Amino acid sequence: MAYGTNDRIESAPVTDWVNDWDWLDDGWGENAIDIWNNVREQCPVGSTERYGRAFMPVTMQAVRDIANNTEDFSSIWVAVGRPDAPRSPAPPITSDPPDHHGHRRLILPAFNPKAIAELEQEMRDYCRKLIKDLDGMDVADAAVQYTQHIPVHGICIITGLPEEDADLFRMWIYKNFQLAPKDNAVRLEVMTEMTQYISAILKDRLENPKDDLLTLVANAEIDGKEVDWNIKVGYIRLQIVAGIDTTWSAIGSGLWHFAQHNDEVQRLIAVPNEDPLWQTANEEVLRYYAPVTMARKVVNDVEIAGCPMHAGDQTLVTFPAANHDPEAFEDAHIFKLDRQDNRHVAFGLGIHRCAGSNLARLEMLVGFQEWLRAFPNYSLDTSKKTTWANGQVRGPREIPVLLNR
Ligand code: HEM
Repeated sequence: MAYGTNDRIESAPVTDWVNDWDWLDDGWGENAIDIWNNVREQCPVGSTERYGRAFMPVTMQAVRDIANNTEDFSSIWVAVGRPDAPRSPAPPITSDPPDHHGHRRLILPAFNPKAIAELEQEMRDYCRKLIKDLDGMDVADAAVQYTQHIPVHGICIITGLPEEDADLFRMWIYKNFQLAPKDNAVRLEVMTEMTQYISAILKDRLENPKDDLLTLVANAEIDGKEVDWNIKVGYIRLQIVAGIDTTWSAIGSGLWHFAQHNDEVQRLIAVPNEDPLWQTANEEVLRYYAPVTMARKVVNDVEIAGCPMHAGDQTLVTFPAANHDPEAFEDAHIFKLDRQDNRHVAFGLGIHRCAGSNLARLEMLVGFQEWLRAFPNYSLDTSKKTTWANGQVRGPREIPVLLNR
């Protein structure tokens, strides 16, 4: 099938989030938490016809029921977008049982707790270098000059991808999440560019092996059988699209929050980095500002929270909305630095639970500790605007701040 530039959906602004939601609406990025809370007061599952029929569960129970049901909900479509969109595999996230297990087992060792813990000093030094680059400045952009760089550094160390291509990765991420769900031509363009780029690097690793994930993937076998080339490319595609703007969004949301809550900053910097308060704060940022909303294709007729869904429909798995369900969390609407019982689902649940959660947690913790200790009185620069990414990975992309040294 040929995809032209006229393959783009043009959409009117949303006025009814219950029956006509759109995660690429201009209002989503900044206001998603209020949107989910309002929808939840009316019903547990919103719907839209903007991408064919697609649903938006907003309660913990509905989200759990979907994420744990791999029989009726398939991961072959993990973003709500045009049903006729060109798609490419990025396992394990785009795979279902029984294939999923082998793909996940293959990449998981790179993210084991010991391997990640060993990165702490390196990530800390890197954050300090970014902060040093702000020497002499009174104002900064905490997203552009800080948060967007941290996860690229982490993912390049883990995979072996070249860090000098960071701008390229961020451009693909932007196009993939912000433009492609409505525009088949953009999706095809990003898919093609990423495939060519990753193929070339994997081929190079076959000839020049190194001690990195790229080399492991280039030679990947499952149960003694060589993995298909397009699947190998997909493993690396996933590292780029799952490992960068996710954590960048989480660190950015936290810094945006703390810029407006100096009392919390003072509580944190008064205790050593090993104090449990830093851990509970990290988890509360994940709960309150969870950046990642996934999706599934409905493959059998099924009912969720009384809402009938039919084979061929799409549904969000709105993990961030579940994190604000008052049935699941006491004072769900309050950000509590020392929240003790915090079983949030920011990293998903069930068989697809985030493989990179150890890395993400480390990057967030170190990113917060270094920034808050360097700029204990920083605040939002209210003369400029914080901008937010919409859709699958929600978070601030520009955070103008006064450093108030
Ligand atoms: C704060 C940052 C992050 C958040 C909130 C997050 C969130 C998620 C969520 C919600 C899922 C579940 C997907 C589903 O149910 O369909 C997931 C899966 C995944 N994440 Fe993350 N993620 C983060 C960072 C990372 C990082 C740094 C990596 C490293 C590359 C990563 C790699 C993955 C992979 C490979 C999967 C697929 C696991 C599977 O399908 O078995 N994520 N993530």
